[in-house]
Amino acid sequence: MSIFQNVKRITTHVLNEMKLRGEKISMLTAYDYSIARILDSAGIDVILVGDSASNVMAGYDSTLPITLNEMIYHASSVVRAVKRALVVVDLPFGTYQGNSKEALNSSIRIMKETGAHAVKLEGGREVKESVERILSAGIPVMGHLGLTPQSIHKFGTFVVRARDESEANKLVEDAHILEEVGCFSLVLEKIPATLAARVTSELKIPVIGIGAGRFTDGQVLVLHDMLGITQEFSPRFLRRYHNLFEEIKGAVETYIRDVKTLDFPNEKEQY
Ligand code: KIV
Repeated sequence: MSIFQNVKRITTHVLNEMKLRGEKISMLTAYDYSIARILDSAGIDVILVGDSASNVMAGYDSTLPITLNEMIYHASSVVRAVKRALVVVDLPFGTYQGNSKEALNSSIRIMKETGAHAVKLEGGREVKESVERILSAGIPVMGHLGLTPQSIHKFGTFVVRARDESEANKLVEDAHILEEVGCFSLVLEKIPATLAARVTSELKIPVIGIGAGRFTDGQVLVLHDMLGITQEFSPRFLRRYHNLFEEIKGAVETYIRDVKTLDFPNEKEQY
């Protein structure tokens, strides 16, 4: 049994301890109260209120449209459910890139209005000043490098990032910058496993991977993808633990049939 299982509250300090002791960190996304309650009671270490809510909750085709107010709504619903996990909230596109003061104001709104424990933002050296400013207010920051979905129109594609040497070197330098300025953790998305392993061993802070192989300090997936609620998104790195789309659809079809055939409600289901 893991010695961290009985930890009452996961903090950034606990995550550091987990890295030191070689205990892998589990992280999943959640955007609402009911699901967050299930994840927390299952013992997840970190819940990410990701801007992937823009895709899976709101139906947009990218993470760009979601607003700060919408993220605050999702995050406060999650926080109300959580007793143990560390809750990290994505700073949405357009709320931190302008300047570091804007980044700080957005982060303060998230912390004050949701009760979450940390924020996450995408980018390396270009967000250094913003990270420093957010940290100066005592707000923990998680970085995010590799495939950064808020820059999808710049990349133009969702292919694996940092395959070539110059992009890989830039990623390693950015990872060190984020650690030096004080990020407590880093997400690496869709990069070669060997590169993720190198960054993980060079950094002291915990590195969480998504499509970054098995040598990172932990793993994160989008819940709707790993449960098979989303169907169309099927990258190689995704392991599906359920086919909830079909299971929910099947249940709804049975309900419709029961209503139409007067099978539901029966005598025991009425007053
Ligand atoms: O928004 C999100 O869900 C994320 C994960 C993919 C890491 O940033």
